[in-house]
Amino acid sequence: MLRRVIYAALERKLNRAYKDRLAALGPAPKGVFWRNQSTQIARFDALLNLVATVTPVANPTLGDVGCGYGAMLDFIQKTPRYQNFQYFGIDINRAMINSCKQQFPDQKHLFLVGKHPPSPVDFCVFSGTFNLCHTTDISLWHDYIFANLQQCWQRSRYGLALNLLCGPKAEIKNHIFYAERQKFIATASQLFGPTHARSTPHVAGDVTFLIAKP
Ligand SMILES: C[S@@+](CC[C@H](N)C(=O)[O-])C[C@H]1O[C@@H](n2cnc3c(N)ncnc32)[C@H](O)[C@@H]1O
Repeated sequence: MLRRVIYAALERKLNRAYKDRLAALGPAPKGVFWRNQSTQIARFDALLNLVATVTPVANPTLGDVGCGYGAMLDFIQKTPRYQNFQYFGIDINRAMINSCKQQFPDQKHLFLVGKHPPSPVDFCVFSGTFNLCHTTDISLWHDYIFANLQQCWQRSRYGLALNLLCGPKAEIKNHIFYAERQKFIATASQLFGPTHARSTPHVAGDVTFLIAKP
């Protein structure tokens, strides 16, 4: 119960930060705190490539949790290798979802406010969803991430793919969370199952994880 109240307070601060950023910089990589479009796209490509490699179904459904202003859908639509993916975007932030609906007026139904898909998908993916955090308590943030992954795990048929910035030790610097790669793998393996990690190509310090259901 207390945890839930603490998590809600964290989310309020995050929502404010993302809403202000979007209002200031608009639906663009910098509007969701990315440095540039090339690292944003490189992250999408690493996640989607993993899903394409392991999916046992031809047209996997995808829940993009923390979809921001919908840039992943734009990338999927432009990339032949991923055009068979059936996309849904979910974000905790209403301003982000409103922006998605403006970017994709004919596909408004693909976007909704939330923290997990409302009904099962084949895979949930998360790009940058847990990078920005408004706490200095590393273990609280670690627990928050896993609580969110758990909700999505229950709604994913085949698994989860996510990226995190990683460093030699877990830390929070300037509101950015850096995970310890091996510790993340150990916890995810214990809670969910075999977890694979690979340094995200072309993005220094970023790691792409795949947690697949057996
Ligand atoms: C760094 S932005 C990345 C947006 C998008 N994935 C991209 O790469 O363009 C992180 C997004 O995750 C959302 N977010 C943060 N925590 C979340 C959660 N627990 N559930 C759903 N969305 C969340 C934020 O509102 C924000 O839009």
